[in-house]
Amino acid sequence: AVADLGVTGMGVMGSRLARNFARHGYTVAIHNVTPDMTADVINEHGEEGQFVPADDMADFVASLKTPRVVLVMVVAGEITDQVIERVAQYLEPGDIIIDGGNALYTDTIRREKELAERGLLFVGAGVSGGAEGALNGPSIMPGASDEAYERVGPLLTAIAARAEDGEPCTTHISTDGSGHYVKMVHNGIEYADMQLIAEAYALMRGALDMTPAEMAKVFAAWNETELESYLIEITSEVLAKVDEETGKPLVDVIVDQAGQKGTGRWTVQDALDLGVPITGIAEATFARALSSSVPQREAGADLQALAEAWDVTDRDAFIEDVRRALYASKVVAYSQGFDQIAAAALEYDWNIDLGAVAKIWRAGCIIRARFLDEIAAAYDADHVIPAATSDGDAGAGDEPDKDGAGTANEASTDSEHAAGEHSGTHTPDAETADAEGSSGGETDVPLLLAAPHFRATVEECIPALRRIVAQAALHGVAVPAFGASLAYYDGVRVNRLPAALIQGLRDYFGSHTYARIDKDGIFHTRWAEDGAEEKVG
Ligand code: 6PG
Repeated sequence: AVADLGVTGMGVMGSRLARNFARHGYTVAIHNVTPDMTADVINEHGEEGQFVPADDMADFVASLKTPRVVLVMVVAGEITDQVIERVAQYLEPGDIIIDGGNALYTDTIRREKELAERGLLFVGAGVSGGAEGALNGPSIMPGASDEAYERVGPLLTAIAARAEDGEPCTTHISTDGSGHYVKMVHNGIEYADMQLIAEAYALMRGALDMTPAEMAKVFAAWNETELESYLIEITSEVLAKVDEETGKPLVDVIVDQAGQKGTGRWTVQDALDLGVPITGIAEATFARALSSSVPQREAGADLQALAEAWDVTDRDAFIEDVRRALYASKVVAYSQGFDQIAAAALEYDWNIDLGAVAKIWRAGCIIRARFLDEIAAAYDADHVIPAATSDGDAGAGDEPDKDGAGTANEASTDSEHAAGEHSGTHTPDAETADAEGSSGGETDVPLLLAAPHFRATVEECIPALRRIVAQAALHGVAVPAFGASLAYYDGVRVNRLPAALIQGLRDYFGSHTYARIDKDGIFHTRWAEDGAEEKVG
């Protein structure tokens, strides 16, 4: 046996990761269910390093040094299960399988358990960076036991991207499904980022009648500001591209229906379960769904806008407003995403270092952005305010409920109470949280928005975000992600939310009870009877 590791699945990602390992001096066994793809890698890139091609799974596994490490790079879902099973039958206790696909984290948790029963170690590694990243250095988010990480950590570190300060863009996230979870939220943020960019584009187009080529220049200029990021950079390139066949901007001949493979949807589904308001990501996911709702769009096509006509006198000021709106909303999206990871860590018992996550997203991945340095610094400096601290002036809200049974939206008991004067962004089952004694300062569901750097830079942009959302509404441009970001900002900011009225209504029709700001306990008003209040708990 000569190979340091094996890669099965010679698609775009698998073949490029295999080449990345080979370029770093590893001897890499490669395999694909159809051997011609393995042969292509050897024919086209065989000189890049030491490859051991195998047509047959038994030969592939036999070529690996022990304990064996096999990276599976195939389509997420059932195919991953099938390939894992095909590999596992040839492995021995102590061997390790890494799934580098975009697996659903619950599948990863299940697979890890099932393989552990057979003595095999399983690592669910989120890999971001697309084809280019896979070859030249992706951001890698492995969820693994300490035992498995000890063996695979150095391999993954060797091929990962390097941030500007030289730090590798991979870290041991936590156990089992944690790596795929963090990758899932990465993709959710990716959705929000792209939707915000698309809304900025729609506004400049609608308000200023700018051409894609003109906007390409604007995005290129924005990439020199605190918005600097991979997605802003490639937006400029996509907008500048002219279709060879028609001579039109390519963006004008692309069908306006956004696809999705599932990770954004999963992010939103899980956030709903956790009760974490990731509104920017949710709107971005639904905006894709709306774009692809063809019959509804056809039926709605002649609805009247009844909007005002644009008449922007100061074009530069408008463009600067859009840039600021984009920055503020982008910070909201990342803040919500990190909030979700923090909540998931509590719920699923993962010990996740949020600063380390920010650091490994600084290069290699799709959402890499200059301001991730500041996010990492905010966590490292402990500037992120714990959610459930008792001062109650700027917290992100309570932790989500811990037992997984009563979700935030499900009135599993009637004992919810507002958390002091500031009822927060989560609406937990307070009884459950209290019962576990964990609703205190020791939790740290963060509010990145309130960390000093972000507070200062976002506040500078808020007036612009307000103007942009208002203008968009008046002029009939849909900006769901900008709107949701502003609503979130105002929601976490205000001292009293209208949720008090909702509690009153719930108590009226369903005796769901409420807490009072001035007394301990749980109360119910006998609305339909004598109108008196009783203390019920
Ligand atoms: C990455 C990307 C990558 C891919 C996703 C998203 O980090 O490299 O997120 O994983 O682009 O599959 O795809 P959809 O937009 O199709 O959901």
